[in-house]
Amino acid sequence: MAEENKKFAVLKFEGREIELPVVTGTEGDKALDIQTLRRSTGLVTIDPGFANTASCRSQITYIDGEKGVLRYRGIPIEELVKKSTFVDVAYLLVHGTLPTEQERLDFSSMLNLNSLVHEDMRRFFDHFPQGAHPMHILSTMINAMAAFYPNVDINTTIANIEQSCARVISIVRTIAAFAYKKSIGEPLVYPRHDLSYCANFLNMMFDSPVRPYHISPEAVRLLNILFILHADHEQNCSTSAVRVIGSAQVNLYATISAGTSALSGPLHGGANQAVIEQLKMIYKDGDIHKFIKMAKDKNNPFRLMGFGHRVYKSYDPRAVIIRKECERFLARSGITDPLLDVARKLEEIALKDEYFVERNLYPNVDFYTGILYRAMGIPENMFTVMFALARLPGWVAHWREMIGDSTKIVRPRQLYIGRTIQEIGEELETRSSRFLL
Ligand code: SDX
Repeated sequence: MAEENKKFAVLKFEGREIELPVVTGTEGDKALDIQTLRRSTGLVTIDPGFANTASCRSQITYIDGEKGVLRYRGIPIEELVKKSTFVDVAYLLVHGTLPTEQERLDFSSMLNLNSLVHEDMRRFFDHFPQGAHPMHILSTMINAMAAFYPNVDINTTIANIEQSCARVISIVRTIAAFAYKKSIGEPLVYPRHDLSYCANFLNMMFDSPVRPYHISPEAVRLLNILFILHADHEQNCSTSAVRVIGSAQVNLYATISAGTSALSGPLHGGANQAVIEQLKMIYKDGDIHKFIKMAKDKNNPFRLMGFGHRVYKSYDPRAVIIRKECERFLARSGITDPLLDVARKLEEIALKDEYFVERNLYPNVDFYTGILYRAMGIPENMFTVMFALARLPGWVAHWREMIGDSTKIVRPRQLYIGRTIQEIGEELETRSSRFLL
């Protein structure tokens, strides 16, 4: 932890001067510590969407939104995608360092031993309607894990927490593949002990008794990269949901289920599926400038999906890598996807347009992801599920950090702007009594 220097900001209010400490993070970012504000001034702060509010101190992920920097436990994602697997990165996020060879073997073994869905839980799939969106199945099944596996409360043993975290990261992957098989009416394919995390997932998705699936090393490499790039992103909406729910000491599974639900929104993880739907609409219409105009029109709710970001005011570093891998995979596979041409054209126009430039709106992680998933044969209704699988280690890491740091329940204040007791009094006086005893 950085030495929290003793700088102060002075708040002048009602003739008084109140000093508030300024604390500095290890990368030099600064925060005004307002923990004594209400006690010393009676004031609270208001910050809808928390765009200016740090909810916690964290050692897990660092983002510099202006410079397009993303690091997990201090390691740049550009390094991790070159040299690590997703399981390495999951270990890094949860435990703080990349695993040694022995730690990697032990972690992989724990993931393997915790990859089977309880047979009674498996039967739940018989009762979901075939058209159910896999994200709804996923969040339901994750929540149901609490009924089948011991509650993970903050006083449990470290061994129990380790196993429960591995269970979340591994069983949820199996549930996701089962949800896909359910959606296409095919028999479930079980995890195999001899396959790596990503190879296992692809096999559970695409293998079939009548159509054996060839596990392509390139598809496994790409899935590791995509999962690594989506693995964590500091206090995004779904991770904040995990921290809020977890602060009430709700069990781990219900907490992760809440994060899954938050991620499913089209403004968050649901954007990768929304991008493809939007690119198809633009491709079919043919008039790209019409949609750019709609996106710029304040009176039109239309947004360019996959564009803009609360933190990145530059090109999302994840999108840089995904766009390169997407173009390379399609070229090498001889796949021509007209949606990639539409995406490139949209980006080219937007990055020269004053509206987008002024607001620092660039492609984010979701803009090219769906095109790459399509080329890999991943169905569109599974795109956000892929995001959720990748984000599991991030959610687990933040949950562990939160329970280790503080047992305070998250309970923000508000600014009340409703009716006053005076207004109510006058109203009551004018109302005749309706209920005569
Ligand atoms: C993810 O937080 C994370 O880290 C999330 C994530 C992660 O890894 O967890 O990175 C994953 O969720 C990526 C984002 C995926 N969502 C989308 O692609 C949906 C489209 N994007 C927008 O809805 C928007 O950009 C958000 C939701 C991503 C960010 O919204 P903000 O920060 O609340 O920004 P804003 O709505 O206040 O926009 C600022 C201005 C507004 O215009 P003005 O009022 O200043 O005139 O920019 C405009 C907005 O209208 N704007 C857009 C736009 N995004 C913002 N205009 C057109 N198209 C867009 N996409």
